[in-house]
Amino acid sequence: VLTVFHQLIKCEIPELNKASVCVRDKGRVETIINNMRRAGPNALQVISDFDMTLTRFAHNGTRCPTTHNILHSSALISDDCKAKMTDLLAHYYPIEIDNSMSVEEKVPHMVEWWTQAHDLLVQQRIRKDQLAQAVRDSGSMLREGYKSFFDVLQQNSVPLLIFSAGIGDILEEVIREHGVFHPNVRIFSNYMDYDQHGVACAFKGELIHTFNKREGALQNTHQFVHDRTNVLLLGDSLGDLNMADGVKDLHDILRIGYLNDKVEERREAYVSSYDIVLEKDETLDVPNAILNYIT
Ligand code: TMP
Ligand code: MG
Repeated sequence: VLTVFHQLIKCEIPELNKASVCVRDKGRVETIINNMRRAGPNALQVISDFDMTLTRFAHNGTRCPTTHNILHSSALISDDCKAKMTDLLAHYYPIEIDNSMSVEEKVPHMVEWWTQAHDLLVQQRIRKDQLAQAVRDSGSMLREGYKSFFDVLQQNSVPLLIFSAGIGDILEEVIREHGVFHPNVRIFSNYMDYDQHGVACAFKGELIHTFNKREGALQNTHQFVHDRTNVLLLGDSLGDLNMADGVKDLHDILRIGYLNDKVEERREAYVSSYDIVLEKDETLDVPNAILNYIT
């Protein structure tokens, strides 16, 4: 029976045969996808990370910016601030992706990174009305196939929650710029607070970093849709795996993970925790094909 089902999935979702796709348990993936198809789009919601998941990791051999990096490389911040943020990135990013450290070990470093980066940014007197231009100048790129991804969800009234440890204000500009900030999109992220002159003076609320999304989800269950019990989850970090923990009565969940960097070292960890792993895949082809099959 399983072989036949594999054939079905192979015929219906040929994208799963792409060389970039790694699956630990094909039978499980197949069962989940078929359950989701049976339950239909009304039972579905999508919960996705943003940086390096909905945005590209690289394009033509050049790294693409995260929401933080968009500000970092913009004309809105001083050279001194740029140099300091570069040092932070050089120190903390290797820790973020270090395969030999546990999440518990990483957390204090991530808190330090985000706290220092946000302190630097709020010293720069960034104006809210300058963000759109900074995004336009940045070369930020959503993954190939983004238009179909956002449009199919909108057309089927499937809610998309973008759960990001990046900067919400920038994230909104990126998706607005790409013409896909549809009404079904909600964002849970780090937002800046502005003074009466529209100058960023602080970050609001509890900090979200790469490895506290689970706590963030559990403490902010109002950010989630609860009557849609099937979740398609997209992430690029092992910290993204628990983003759906804020959903009550979760039924079926399919987790797709982009493995962008340190592929060989991290393959095992990714394949054992994500249902589908996409290696060095700059497209949304696989999520799109699955969405088209289940909606
Ligand atoms: P995400 O949860 O939306 O992927 O956002 C987190 C990413 O932001 C994470 O991969 C690290 C990155 N980041 C920067 O690129 N620069 C920074 O200054 C900070 C604090 C984070
Ligand atoms: Mg990410």
